[in-house]
Amino acid sequence: MTRRPFIAGNWKMNTRRDSAVELAGQLVKGVGERSACEVAICPPTVYLSAVSDLLAGSPIELGAQNLYPAADGAYTGEVNAAMLTDIGCRFVILGHSERRQLMGETDAEVATKLQAALAGNLVPIVCVGETLEQRQAEQTEAVVEAQVRGSLAELDEARAAGVVIAYEPVWAIGTGLTATPEQAESVHRSIRQLLAEMFTPEIAGQIRIQYGGSVKPDNAVDLLGQPNIDGALVGGASLKAADFMAIIAAADAVCAT
Ligand code: PGA
Repeated sequence: MTRRPFIAGNWKMNTRRDSAVELAGQLVKGVGERSACEVAICPPTVYLSAVSDLLAGSPIELGAQNLYPAADGAYTGEVNAAMLTDIGCRFVILGHSERRQLMGETDAEVATKLQAALAGNLVPIVCVGETLEQRQAEQTEAVVEAQVRGSLAELDEARAAGVVIAYEPVWAIGTGLTATPEQAESVHRSIRQLLAEMFTPEIAGQIRIQYGGSVKPDNAVDLLGQPNIDGALVGGASLKAADFMAIIAAADAVCAT
């Protein structure tokens, strides 16, 4: 069973049209025609189309940062899965901790969005992770287990293998603090055991689990070298082409071993 490492850049609410186009252009050039790992970038919604045009012919794939789980209709301000696939998205980030904390997104909502993503042919990247207080109270495994169970509650066994999970300890996001490779691996291992219980060991062995939280060029190799870490969801460092390319190179190096 081999899981192809997957590096995704989460641009969050950063960039303008010019900087989005420039960054995507640099990455298209840097990655070239192929890369051993899978690569995606997730620009702000309004720039998805512009970036999508630039990615034609590149192995870099496009992802959105959220969706609204309904078919077309009277949902002012929202964007659904059909619209995202229409402009070339393959992935969608769901349940990012910023959405959970700032917009009050719940596991039940993430579960509904996940179904909408799959029905719309998008690959969901489902984010989970504990806060600093929860880690200090030794609740990490329980919190992450509840998030995984809740967010995947409606997921069918037949589609489970294609879902991506991102373990992102909240205390490591945008803070410069990173989980040590051992800390991250231990949570990734427990998520995989949980997935084996929820689905089957075989399916759990196919599901990719990314790590996220201050992934940088200088810690990527050690993190990505862990047996249950199958890639990275990168925030800050994905906004600098050289840094993101270095993280892709780290994943490619892991593929080669
Ligand atoms: P960071 O963000 O790499 O800036 O910590 C990661 C994320 O929020 O996905």
